Amino acid sequence: MATHPGGLTPSSAPDGTAVRVRDLTRSFSEAGGVLDGLDLDIAQGEFVALIGRSGSGKSTLLRALAGLDRDVSGAGTVDVPDSVSVVFQDSRLLPWKRVLDNVTFGLRGKGATERGRTALAEVGLEGRERAWPHELSGGEQQRAALARSLVREPRLLLADEPFGALDALTRIRMHVLLRRLCEAHRPAVLLVTHDVDEAIVLADRVIVLDDGVVASDIRVELAGRRSQADPEFAALRARLLAQLGVEDDHEAPVSRRAPSHLDRRAAS
Ligand SMILES: Nc1ncnc2c1ncn2[C@@H]1O[C@H](COP(=O)(O)OP(=O)(O)O)[C@@H](O)[C@H]1O
Ligand SMILES: [Mg+2]
Repeated sequence: MATHPGGLTPSSAPDGTAVRVRDLTRSFSEAGGVLDGLDLDIAQGEFVALIGRSGSGKSTLLRALAGLDRDVSGAGTVDVPDSVSVVFQDSRLLPWKRVLDNVTFGLRGKGATERGRTALAEVGLEGRERAWPHELSGGEQQRAALARSLVREPRLLLADEPFGALDALTRIRMHVLLRRLCEAHRPAVLLVTHDVDEAIVLADRVIVLDDGVVASDIRVELAGRRSQADPEFAALRARLLAQLGVEDDHEAPVSRRAPSHLDRRAAS
């Protein structure tokens, strides 16, 4: 376990817990805090989706867990595993390095190249090892970013709207891939998304961030394959949208529907 510095009190999480956050506060100015005494536990191998209005502090929380929050003040306890990988909305591949070199960048040890190749094959990019990042589609770049994360065998995968810039079909393919990779590697996952359906399809638990705390924490208990057509899926979507202050318009006539699963007025 690693406890991040910055006025935080060290402690160690109990066995079986990957992430343990206690009384976390973060603020960027005197005016007010973004996170305000937040508590969160994530079990090893558990997949948690984090939703919340735009500006509610989702990225701030993710950066705190990643240890990437230097320009912010705060206190509290953040325990995370020693190996953490982060995926962002843009792939952040280095444009001057070929795909395989991006995946293995910073990896040490003799087997690094072979591990990189295996990771690329796992995300369906076999044969693209020598491509430059700009030669890949947006979806392929995100797959390369996932390979770069997973080749490090993280105990915790942090993802901040990783599919937010992809078209709907590519996003569905990425959901299937991510689920498969997580079942194979079993990292704990915290996925930030503005897409309630994405949260329900992928996660074991969906948490809603509001007023600087976890305002709701819902276990997804849908049997079998998760289908948007399932009435229980729809009920959970309605509940989560209500938490976000958004009206669910899936039942509305097509002409009245918002352009995506989630009305962009209230959440991002
Ligand atoms: N580097 C920063 N400097 C000042 N304010 C920031 C900074 N990063 C985020 N904020 C503010 O903190 C709040 C939470 O931001 P963020 O965590 O990015 O929200 P979310 O990811 O939920 O949209 C917002 O009001 C945002 O404007
Ligand atoms: Mg954000």
